[in-house]
Amino acid sequence: MSKIGVYPGTFDPMTNGHLNIIKRSFKIVDQLIIGVADNLNKIPLLSITERKDIIKNDLEIENLSNKNIKILSVKGLLTEFAKDQNADCIIRGLRAVSDFEYEFQMTGMNYQLSPDIETIFLMSSDNNSFISSNLVKEVHKLGGDVSKFVSKNTIRVLNNKNS
Ligand code: COA
Repeated sequence: MSKIGVYPGTFDPMTNGHLNIIKRSFKIVDQLIIGVADNLNKIPLLSITERKDIIKNDLEIENLSNKNIKILSVKGLLTEFAKDQNADCIIRGLRAVSDFEYEFQMTGMNYQLSPDIETIFLMSSDNNSFISSNLVKEVHKLGGDVSKFVSKNTIRVLNNKNS
């Protein structure tokens, strides 16, 4: 039976760390729905449309367009979104011990809201474990080179935002 996973995040912007998780998700699911959400504790630099466009572009560059992937906006609760999409699981990346407490709380809350949907964690690969969207934005704004962490297209979008 075909398995559907939801990979939610703010993706402000998507980084190579997120892309690594997307590629590896296909060892677990047959279809992946990338859910672009707003985290109420963060003020995003990029609009939802800009974030979705970056993801679409990065998937093309990485030759992932032929995979069964949808990019959708998450409005409201993630658990409701996952149910609406008939998802079997939520996939999240874990970078370091520091991510654990936050993910633990979020998973616990999501489980209370919807016990049928499992959350599966993939450990970030070594070279991605220190990347964060906020650090990418900060380094780029201060003139640093972020080309190891995000695509050229993303750098163009960030250049336009900061000009
Ligand atoms: N490699 C490198 N970095 C990674 C990574 C990986 N594999 N996975 C995540 N990150 C980084 C991101 O760059 C990001 O960095 P930042 O904090 O500097 O922005 C951080 O880890 C986590 O961000 P991201 O994966 O984009 O998602 P998030 O933690 O902001 O997402 C939601 C949280 C959207 C899933 C959550 O707010 C949500 O579910 N919202 C919907 C509303 C809801 O249901 N709320 C109740 C939740 S209980």
